[in-house]
Amino acid sequence: MPRIFSGIKPTGHLTLGNYLGAVRQWVDVDQHKADALFCVVDLHALTVDHDPARVRRLSRQAATLLLAAGLEPARCTVFVQSHVHEHTRLAYLLECTASDGEMRRMIQYKEKSARERAVGGNVRLSLLTYPVLMAADILAYAADEVPVGDDQAQHVELTRDLAVRFNQRYGRTFTVPKAVVPAVAARVMDLQDPLSKMGKSHAETAGIVYLLDEADIVRKKIMRAVTDSGSDVVYDPEERPGVANLLEILAACTGGKPADLAEHYSSYGALKQDTADAVLALLQPVRDRHAELCADPGYVDAVLREGAERARSLARPTVDAAYAAIGLMPPA
Ligand code: TYM
Repeated sequence: MPRIFSGIKPTGHLTLGNYLGAVRQWVDVDQHKADALFCVVDLHALTVDHDPARVRRLSRQAATLLLAAGLEPARCTVFVQSHVHEHTRLAYLLECTASDGEMRRMIQYKEKSARERAVGGNVRLSLLTYPVLMAADILAYAADEVPVGDDQAQHVELTRDLAVRFNQRYGRTFTVPKAVVPAVAARVMDLQDPLSKMGKSHAETAGIVYLLDEADIVRKKIMRAVTDSGSDVVYDPEERPGVANLLEILAACTGGKPADLAEHYSSYGALKQDTADAVLALLQPVRDRHAELCADPGYVDAVLREGAERARSLARPTVDAAYAAIGLMPPA
């Protein structure tokens, strides 16, 4: 049975991008076809300026939302990264496998560090080593597949390189994983700025649909989405990124193809209306279930406790094997 691993970072409220690009595949496909683990990667949230209480709150909220979206603890393992020490244990060995040049070439590092420096901030060292911790997340579980949105594909590619390099140097220890990116909505764009990704940590929120936004807010955000200068509805991501984004969202929600859907519309207004309806139909059950689960925090705690126990038992043998392979003396 293939092993699947993926994660989500509690740096902000979960967005429609997270849902369509990743979580929905985990719920609809991954947990049914494989031994799957899904992780709230809280250590990754410490790589940028953070508020401790907020990270703690968002971690619980993310875990609750994953369950609300339909991850079933009887089918898959849901846990919090910092509860399983194998991630950081392995990350150090991978730091001894990776080069600093490799880290500096990562697009997300370049973008995030530039943004931080532009406001006179300090770039945390952990932002540079972030992809190594992510590689440890994946390799500790011998994952075959990593279902992610398009923006994480480069990190998974690096994970492959590190696994191959480690195996060549020290003997076969790690499974070499591959990224699985959805065919539609692999990169949902900001509704106000369709040239940038809809990201949960952005300060400007008018173009971001959050999973927990009230229905009228979701509708307003979609109806006010920036469209392009033309008025006919065509699917052309290069020339008409705003309309293409709406068509991708609609296609991801309804199961159609963006270019085919375009033919059904002669105005932006009708496209926006239908997109808002489709998004709301998808999100409403998640919001309802989230409210139910919030009323039962003991259940979420129990799921996370059992998830961490199982994750630990899966990761420990692989990480122990890596410690031995790299030349560390075992404890007596
Ligand atoms: P994160 O928390 O930014 O995003 C979680 C998942 O959502 C996808 N995603 C999107 N997909 C489509 N359109 C968007 N606008 C959009 N925004 C986010 C992401 O691609 C991701 O799949 N580094 C990872 C977390 C991580 C991880 C891991 C993932 C840490 N360790 C190991 C997989 C395996 C991250 O920041 O995701």
